[in-house]
Amino acid sequence: MSAVADDVILRVEDLTIRYEKGRSIWGTPRYGQVVHGVSFSVKRGETFGLVGESGSGKSTIGKAVLRQIPVLSGSITFEGQTITDWPEGKTPVTYRRAVQVVFQNPRLSLNARMLARDTVGEAVRFHLGLQGRELDERVARLFDDVGLPRHLGDRYPDELSGGQQQRVAIARALACDPRLVICDEAVSALDVSTQAQVIGLLRRLQEERGLSYVFISHDLGVVRNLCHHVGVLQHGRFTDLGSVESVFERPRDDYTRALLDAIPKFPGKVAA
Ligand SMILES: Nc1ncnc2c1ncn2[C@@H]1O[C@H](COP(=O)(O)OP(=O)(O)O)[C@@H](O)[C@H]1O
Ligand SMILES: [Mg+2]
Repeated sequence: MSAVADDVILRVEDLTIRYEKGRSIWGTPRYGQVVHGVSFSVKRGETFGLVGESGSGKSTIGKAVLRQIPVLSGSITFEGQTITDWPEGKTPVTYRRAVQVVFQNPRLSLNARMLARDTVGEAVRFHLGLQGRELDERVARLFDDVGLPRHLGDRYPDELSGGQQQRVAIARALACDPRLVICDEAVSALDVSTQAQVIGLLRRLQEERGLSYVFISHDLGVVRNLCHHVGVLQHGRFTDLGSVESVFERPRDDYTRALLDAIPKFPGKVAA
């Protein structure tokens, strides 16, 4: 197992990203750089926490990994392939299956007019081409995997709790057997006890499937609970980067220390 655990699945090197901030009166674009030379790697089967205050660039890095926005310079390598070398708009379907995302607000990310079963079923049909009984069985198993009672498949998102909605979104993300999941504030909208349950679920899925996560959060308590390694972002740069123990016990930077001091004394590890 150790040979696998040491394996790097995602490597981000010297990543720089800017957004167009409008144009001058001459029509020349103005840019705002929001990520400045960020480097980190994610090991297979591990969770890398990307933490920092709102606007620090966390989602931007996630979007670059998902190839939703272009990068200015630097590289992103997934399983040895430099994905930043691929032309814009040409993302291999194998990559789109291998890397999935779960967002903060499941009510927005789920189709309000689609039954939970169909939301997951659509992803299974799209990615795996299954139909009929095979499709139904696969969907039912995904419900089991994320701890959703199968009969909830008959409900629309509005008829589910926030935690159940997020489980539907996780089941949909798992439909194509991804190897890396970007969780962008995936538990931030949930109340504390539901948050603990979904974190427990993510941890169990990681153990069962050897999944890797990039776990984006502004909440250091949650990050400490779930992540193996962590990078603390401020204005698009890391102030601290390393194992959760080293960053939380011996932060190098004043900014990290201030963030840590702001965490309410939190309740320790949650059950899986
Ligand atoms: N599409 C965009 N166009 C221009 N600026 C953006 C865009 N998306 C994000 N930004 C800016 O980039 C910075 C980082 O945003 P983001 O990555 O969403 O931060 P975080 O996820 O850490 O809250 C912010 O200053 C934000 O205003
Ligand atoms: Mg964000």
